[in-house]
Amino acid sequence: MNTQDYIKREDKYGAHNYHPLPVVLERGEGPFVWDVEGKRYYDFLSAYSAINQGHCHPDIIKALQDQAATLTLTSRAFYNNVLGEFEEYITKYFGYDKVLPMNSGAEADETALKLCRKWAYQKKGIEKDKAKIIVCESNFHGRTITIVSMSTDPDARKDYGPFTPGFVTIPYNDLDALAKELEDPNVAGFLVEPIQGEAGVFVPDDGYLKKAYEMCKAKNVLFIADEVQTGIARTGKLLASDHEDVRPDILILGKALSGGVFPVSAVLADDDIMLVIKPGEHGSTFGGNPIAGKVAMAALEVVKNEKLAERAEYLGKIFRDEFRSIKSEMIELVRGKGLLNAVVIKPKGDKTAWDVCVAMKDNGLIAKPTHGHIIRFAPPLIISEEQLRGAMNIIKETFKEFE
Ligand SMILES: Cc1ncc(COP(=O)(O)O)c(C=O)c1O
Repeated sequence: MNTQDYIKREDKYGAHNYHPLPVVLERGEGPFVWDVEGKRYYDFLSAYSAINQGHCHPDIIKALQDQAATLTLTSRAFYNNVLGEFEEYITKYFGYDKVLPMNSGAEADETALKLCRKWAYQKKGIEKDKAKIIVCESNFHGRTITIVSMSTDPDARKDYGPFTPGFVTIPYNDLDALAKELEDPNVAGFLVEPIQGEAGVFVPDDGYLKKAYEMCKAKNVLFIADEVQTGIARTGKLLASDHEDVRPDILILGKALSGGVFPVSAVLADDDIMLVIKPGEHGSTFGGNPIAGKVAMAALEVVKNEKLAERAEYLGKIFRDEFRSIKSEMIELVRGKGLLNAVVIKPKGDKTAWDVCVAMKDNGLIAKPTHGHIIRFAPPLIISEEQLRGAMNIIKETFKEFE
């Protein structure tokens, strides 16, 4: 079978809920992936920042294989000998009293919303069913009905109503709007991405998170950070919130928590918040399974041992400097933090960001446009400086082809 055969088969038997770049991958190692024809590419998407530790990191794969051959799933109806070890490890790693493990990022977001609402009624004293959570325009928190109820993206919402009530939307990076909504005593939480990833890597003004956090504190409102995409060293710190010394009341993690090896997500909070959820009130068959625990611990060890946050910080500066030196009418703007970056593309004739991505693919580097005119560049954080410079050469050559 060749590339076209694979694409046709997916098209015929799979739901059409994605529009992939026409490349069929079959193997990955470090910052590279190979397609079914044997061609090698730099992976500059990293599965939407899940592969921060690089493809098939040997330590993480070993943890997966060892645990998979021992015990895979018990459900939470029984204790298992790994979960407690993982819970102790991750809570100490991020500095919280408790963790609630789930699988996908969306589930972790849902968990955080439920936690916030329960806290609102049991601790803050908000009247039954009146709790509100403030969210931001252009957010991305996943795809469930409740999460798309918070979305302002028409594609995410069209024909999926009726929607879950209880959310108030304000512009991102707008402290005045936040202040206004915080006047409402029924507000229980503020859910925010420290950098809006899916929206096109929107970095808020310096000081925004810190100030927003302080304003929430003053009104007894929970500051909930969705670090599913920005967390785990991607932006040059362990958490993007760390750039402003903010410690979220509820921290949401996913993606690179497992190095992209297994679906593992988690919600972290202190006892006064987390213990409002009682047995039988929330859970997941797979959440907290022994494979997830072992894989996540191995993935977090890699982040620490290989100094991935420091690498992302250092390499991110090189990336942005190099990109800004490219002379091309198509490059409107380069923005980002650490190795989470995006380039806003100005179409040239009928050539768009999609055409740039297809040309980069032909030259050996894969990335994906978001919202039509923005290309996100997020390589695995284990990429070496030499490899990054090699990738930059591919990008430069590609833009030359459009001149
Ligand atoms: C900030 C953020 N939250 C949540 C999610 C949803 O994660 P998942 O796709 O694992 O459900 C994503 C996915 O891109 C994300 O970027």
